[in-house]
Amino acid sequence: MLLHVPDILDREQLHRMRAALDAAEWTDGRETVGTQGAQVKRNRQLPDASPLRRQLGEALLAALAGNPLFHAATLPRRILPPRFNRYEGGGEYGMHVDGSVMALPDGEQLRSDISCTLFLSEPEDYDGGELIISDTYGEHAVKLPAGDAIIYPASSLHRVQPVTRGARVAAFFWVQSLVRDDGCRRLLFELDASIQRLVATGADRAAVLQLTGTYHNLLRRWAES
Ligand code: NI
Repeated sequence: MLLHVPDILDREQLHRMRAALDAAEWTDGRETVGTQGAQVKRNRQLPDASPLRRQLGEALLAALAGNPLFHAATLPRRILPPRFNRYEGGGEYGMHVDGSVMALPDGEQLRSDISCTLFLSEPEDYDGGELIISDTYGEHAVKLPAGDAIIYPASSLHRVQPVTRGARVAAFFWVQSLVRDDGCRRLLFELDASIQRLVATGADRAAVLQLTGTYHNLLRRWAES
């Protein structure tokens, strides 16, 4: 499922994050990829060990925790601490796949079910820089307002188009979901959205209760802990 999650950061959070990132020291983005990725990746990142990365990552995780749409769509089990990148001067990231298993800071591992990119630059401030996601329906070009995120299956091939003017700053991270299968997760997301709508429009309470029970029983059936 490819989903646009708007307004994860408000104006003030965005402004503070951008000010800190604009003054930051960046390093070669190839620090965090294998040899295949290194051949096609041309961007810069906050160093993994940088205190700023940790601080901004924690602020972003707190914002995600308070976002009901993000939660309903991803059903997060664990989230890799966010990283931050910057593309400019023709920087790009050619077609690639993301690693399937990643190391968490506590020594545990994360299975990457869902890839997330949160845009931190306004689309009019740069040319190019679209995230192109390839799935069974073809290619999708994604370029969102600052503060908005796209979530998509981590199994997808994807790339970032060259940035030919300005700078594209973004955060990126991966989620291991309680529900591993993208199709099952999507059914739960759609059922949840229908229940919310029935509640908001004052539908029959007993029927809503039964559907809510069905949602939780499916989640109980599919959730891995
Ligand atoms: Ni990627």
